[in-house]
Amino acid sequence: MITRIFEERLSKIGKNLKSSLIRDLLKYAQVPGAISFGGGAPDPETFPSKELGEIAKEILENEYSFTLQYIPTEGDEELKEEFLKLLDRIYGITDVTKENLLMTTGSQQALDILARIFLDEDSYVIVESPSYLGALNAFYTSFPKFITVPLEEDGMDINYLEKVLKELDERGEIEKVKFIYTVPTFQNPAGVTMSLEKRKALVELAEKYDILIVEDDPYGALYFDEIPPDSIYRLAGKERVILLNTFSKILTPGLRIGVIIADKTIITKAIRAKQSADLCSSGLTQRLAARFLKNYDLFDYLKNIRAVYKEKRDIMIEAMEEYLKPYGARWTKPGGGLFIWIKLPEEYDTMEMLDIAKEKLVFYIPGKAFMVDVENSSAARLSFCLPPKEIIPEGIRRLGEVIVEYRRKKGL
Ligand SMILES: Cc1ncc(COP(=O)(O)O)c(C=O)c1O
Repeated sequence: MITRIFEERLSKIGKNLKSSLIRDLLKYAQVPGAISFGGGAPDPETFPSKELGEIAKEILENEYSFTLQYIPTEGDEELKEEFLKLLDRIYGITDVTKENLLMTTGSQQALDILARIFLDEDSYVIVESPSYLGALNAFYTSFPKFITVPLEEDGMDINYLEKVLKELDERGEIEKVKFIYTVPTFQNPAGVTMSLEKRKALVELAEKYDILIVEDDPYGALYFDEIPPDSIYRLAGKERVILLNTFSKILTPGLRIGVIIADKTIITKAIRAKQSADLCSSGLTQRLAARFLKNYDLFDYLKNIRAVYKEKRDIMIEAMEEYLKPYGARWTKPGGGLFIWIKLPEEYDTMEMLDIAKEKLVFYIPGKAFMVDVENSSAARLSFCLPPKEIIPEGIRRLGEVIVEYRRKKGL
């Protein structure tokens, strides 16, 4: 009875909130003996916990009037200074000042803020298919119309995008396109990277039709082989691009620090939206990150993280060759980041297959979770970041068993 009343009073957003498949899966993945390739949580062994512990003690004891206080919504000045240096080192971006930065509570909050300041019900938002689930969820809350652009081995299908933009322009609707959202480097979930040619073509189209690009880049610094191509922001600047960055994958997600890098007018609006959400992000964790950047060389530390994930990627791919290739599976070989996108033959449905995966105690995220407009998908995301390297082959072997059992049940 009470539940019914509550449900009746929910807002449109409240009624539409669905449970996150990833969160649900993480629950199953806690079962003893389970091996999870589901979440994108970094390997805790890569966290510099000792160094952060020492800094935490110092800033809590000596700087408590800042670290335990509310801080300005924009973020910690000291972190901003350090982050500007990092922007130059990671991307070669030098055309920004502190006024172009807003520190957020993870880049997930940045996505939520962008939805709130740009999207209405009659807006269009262009996303890759597949796309980062957290971004889709953040955008959903404003009920925009999604336009999906297929993702290829070298980034989004630019010809398709051009066709879509041309049609919208002819229909007089191009101004309703609020932005193109892309994760161009070591994409989540597909692990692919947009080529330099496609980045340039994307910028050209965005300029032709006067559309903003949101470049979400948590993984660019986590390359294993070659350094990725220039960021889209570096190619087109802040008049065209909003760049999102985060400390989650290069330091630790527990700090919950993301950054919006954008034109001042956008930052001003974003600050107002953030104020109504949480007043400010934690001064304690921002100062912690700032002091870490000041006292240590993040790049030295990144060398170790890259080596850890590169080894895990190689172990996973080797196991996939042995246990999954015989069933017609194909996959991407990411040059960095945390994810491999695997495709089984068309007749497989990875969502349906999950029931068997639960029995066999192995977890992945079905491809459907990352797509707004498909009924079923034979693809899945496997992340190699969290499980210890020794158990990755066993997890992939179990996945092979899941496939065998599914084939038997479906008579494939
Ligand atoms: C593409 C992308 N954007 C944003 C996020 C959110 O990261 P956080 O809120 O931890 O900064 C993630 C996390 O996995 C991601 O993969």
